[in-house]
Amino acid sequence: MKSSSNLSRDWNPGDIWEGYQATSLLEMPGLARAAGVARVFVKNEAERPLGNFKVLGGMAAALRAIRRHAMNSPNADGAAHRRLRLVCASDGNHGLAVASAAQRAGVRATVYLPHDVNPVRVDRIRATGADIVLVDGTYDDAVQCAQAAALAEDCLLVPDTTPDADHPVVKDVMAGYGVLTDELICQLAAAGNVQPTHAFIQAGVGGLAAAIAEGLHAHMHAAGRLVVVEPHGAACVARALREGRPVRIEGDLRTTAEMLACGLASAPALEILLRHRAQSMRVTESELEAGPAQLLAAGGPASTPSGAAGLAGLLAASRQPEQRERCGLDAGSIVLLVVTEGPPDVTTASTAQDTDVHPFPLPSPAY
Ligand SMILES: Cc1ncc(COP(=O)(O)O)c(C=O)c1O
Repeated sequence: MKSSSNLSRDWNPGDIWEGYQATSLLEMPGLARAAGVARVFVKNEAERPLGNFKVLGGMAAALRAIRRHAMNSPNADGAAHRRLRLVCASDGNHGLAVASAAQRAGVRATVYLPHDVNPVRVDRIRATGADIVLVDGTYDDAVQCAQAAALAEDCLLVPDTTPDADHPVVKDVMAGYGVLTDELICQLAAAGNVQPTHAFIQAGVGGLAAAIAEGLHAHMHAAGRLVVVEPHGAACVARALREGRPVRIEGDLRTTAEMLACGLASAPALEILLRHRAQSMRVTESELEAGPAQLLAAGGPASTPSGAAGLAGLLAASRQPEQRERCGLDAGSIVLLVVTEGPPDVTTASTAQDTDVHPFPLPSPAY
């Protein structure tokens, strides 16, 4: 299966995840009633291996980076391969994906995390065998530490954000998220050629929102809008959209939507979001906190404030007449949401732990 977007991908998800299956797309009439729109569809990424969509990008990009490295080092033996180290920064989920890729490929990994990261997320990453470095600062400080460490120690950096609009690894990460949009295209067609008028997509650095804008634009309604949803105190994509370039926002960025606590948008994501004229909106901490319960009450999956932040955005926008108008929401709107993760404490790192460790050389699929 080729990617439907300009974020090119020449691998199939089945090459990486044995027994690969699309995650569910749920229609949720209760949410449509609550938001005063015609239909609401929810893509449930809690079902994804590792319990969140980040596995699609981080794991695929890391395996591709290892493969590229092996091809560029034809004389390296198995011992040299095992000494290889992947490095990344994360709020939790990207690090888990990269660490799981390292475990699978039989290489080492170091994950840089902000010091106030949820300990459950740290334990899940550590269980893959990765080393953890807690950084006294924000996610953005962890990004800088990971960059510096990768340079100094000659490691493979696997970032999910970058100031470089052409960064190949970050583009691989976003191309991996294209698996989700390819699934959506098939699922919306099967649901009767549904064309969403809106997608409310939560953002940390903007990679997911960009992948959805790029992958789905031809399958949305002609006047379709993508609305980027961010916490009030960490709205770096809104700022970047306003200024036309990533600008780091200050403050401690702390939010109950801990996976969205990012202060600098990713440049390749921003380029795509600007091209697709994405809108943005900010939600309060209490709106974010209410998201998982509202989702559950409507019959949806268990999630977190980060995972349900798109819903928090839709409900906030639908309640405020000005915001409703700005987003073009009305009784005929068809809205797409992505529940981006399940609760981390009940999701097991199944892909990481159940998958055989592949010995050097790496297996042959073209990822
Ligand atoms: C659960 C969850 N939702 C949403 C996001 C936001 O994705 P992005 O940083 O690509 O905007 C993340 C990022 O880590 C995440 O872990």
